[in-house]
Formats: sequence, C-alpha cells, structure tokens
Amino acid sequence: MKFPQYRARRMRATPNIRRMVRETRLSPDMLIYPMFVAWGKGKKEEISSMPGNYRLSVDRLAAEVKDVEALGIPAVILFGIPEKKDDKGSEAYNPDGVVCRAVKEIKNACPALTVITDVCIDEYTTHGHCGVVAGDKILNDPTLELLGLMALAHAGAGADIVAPSDMMDGRVGAIRIALDDNGYKDTAIMSYAAKYASGFYGPFREACDSAPQFGDRATYQMDPANAREAIREVALDIVEAADILMVKPALPYLDIIRMIKTQFNLPLAAYNVSGEYAMIEAAARNGWIDRDRVMMETLLSIHRAGADMILTYFAKDAARLLRG
Ligand code: PBG
Repeated sequence: MKFPQYRARRMRATPNIRRMVRETRLSPDMLIYPMFVAWGKGKKEEISSMPGNYRLSVDRLAAEVKDVEALGIPAVILFGIPEKKDDKGSEAYNPDGVVCRAVKEIKNACPALTVITDVCIDEYTTHGHCGVVAGDKILNDPTLELLGLMALAHAGAGADIVAPSDMMDGRVGAIRIALDDNGYKDTAIMSYAAKYASGFYGPFREACDSAPQFGDRATYQMDPANAREAIREVALDIVEAADILMVKPALPYLDIIRMIKTQFNLPLAAYNVSGEYAMIEAAARNGWIDRDRVMMETLLSIHRAGADMILTYFAKDAARLLRG
C-alpha cells in the first residue's frame, strides 16, 4: 500500500463511506448518569461548577429518572448529601439515610432502571476523608467494616450495583463477604479499581462539600504517575470478585483504560469526572469550543480507548444527540 496507488482519502469521500468504515460508535446503552441526592424537600440546586447538574431532594427524583430512562440510558449512579456529617460518617450506612431513600424512590418510579450507588464515606464525614481518621492517618481496616455496612444498607434498599470509590485495600472482598453473608448474592460490585488522586475531582467536592479538611488523598488514591500499579490494583479487585472494573478519571488516563482493556476481560467502565465536564462547559461558555462536538469527541475517545461503559455528567445530552 503506497502513494499514489493507495489514497486514504478514498475511504473518507462521502458520509456514507465514512459511515461504512467507522470503527467505533457511541450508544446510550453505554452511558451511566451520576446524580446528587440531597437531604430535604423540594430541592433543586444547580451546582455552580457543574452547570446543568443539580442537587435534588428525594421528592424531585422521580421526574428526573423518568427523563433519564426515556432517553435510553440504562443506569444512574447516586451520590448522597446527608442531613448531617460526623467523624465516622454515620449517615453513610444509615438504612434510612438519603441514598437508601433515593434508591427506593427511583425503584418505585422506574423499576427497570439500573441503580448503582457510590460506596464511600467522604460525603458523610466532617473531615472529608474516605476512611476512619486517627490523628493525621486514614485507617484502612476499620474502614472496611463501615463500607460493608454501607453496601448492605444500599443493597437492602434495592440497589442493583454498589460501587466502592474509597480505594481502601481489601474493600471489594470485604463488601462481597458482607453482601453474601446477608443474602445479597446477586448485588453486583462495580469497583473503582484504578482511581487516581486527581485534581479533576474539584467540582464534585464542591457539589458534595467533601474536600478533605486536612492533607489530601495521596495515601490511598493512586499516584497519577503510575501505570503498572493500575494492573496490580485491578488484579486484586478481580480476585476479590469485582463484577465491573473502573478507571477514574477518564480523559487524562486513556492509556490506563486501554491497558486494562487489553490485559483483563471483565466489563470496563471509565468515569468522565466532574473536572473534565467543567472544563468543557467553561470553554463552551466562553465561545472557545463547540460544546456538543467536543462532548461527543471526548466520549468517543473514552470508548475507543476501551471503556465498555462511561459514567458521565453529559449522559443526558449525549443520549439526546445519539437518538437524533
Ligand atoms: C468519592 C468520590 C469522588 C468522586 C466520586 N466518588 C471524589 C473524591 O474521590 O474525592 C469524584 C467524581 C467526580 O469528580 O465527578 N466518594
């Protein structure tokens, strides 16, 4: 194959030819919509750094999830903003807490919609860390018990999938045992397997008021410089019986997505996180980029890198475009 006999342009000549040779396609089937559920009534507060995303109270959820379902999106993932926070994150595993109430409400409104819950105590702790704190340390093993309780509360409320995002060692196994021992053998685990200590979570922490009050998350989340370590993290989660793996964030870690996809055969998700969303929104608002085009190109790149599913704040808008 060489010029001038071979000309790559021939296969780009018309929309129909381009359609025939296209290698990757997005579909609403692969989108997961993150939602923030807040304590209280009649609440719909826009998150300032994530325009178009809201903190919704439980009574506002039904209309929203019906919309999500009508767009062909198969799943939502829930984050809770509790009534009160404390140093142990008690509201995280309260079976009558905000996320458990939200799960019941959503299952009532849309029984077939897949409900995933984020399992991590940082949104519920006054210190904003993902684990039990002693002095300036984040304790791994005592946190596992709380994560097990949290997963049980969510499964009891009817969650289909629990998604631990805390990055404690051994949490997938601890949650699996807690679920199995309590009759929730069919509740699946989506593990935030390779989760990096990233600056891209900024807007999310504003949304949940969950920024760590001291230090950072570098002792439990992964160093952005490491790729081989992601393989070890994923391998551990597979041994502990994770059902779905996740890489997070997505866009600055496309190499990791590709690597995990090539090396392992479990379903793979990628989280197009709040900062990735905020950058596109901000640039679009300044008239510097074409929002919809950049949104679709971003999602396509994450899928092309190897993600079978994408958690994204763009889910509704992307599904709308994909459905035409
Ligand atoms: C932890 C959690 C975080 C996100 C999802 N789960 C924040 C963190 O680790 O600090 C971030 C998601 C996003 O930025 O969109 N519960």
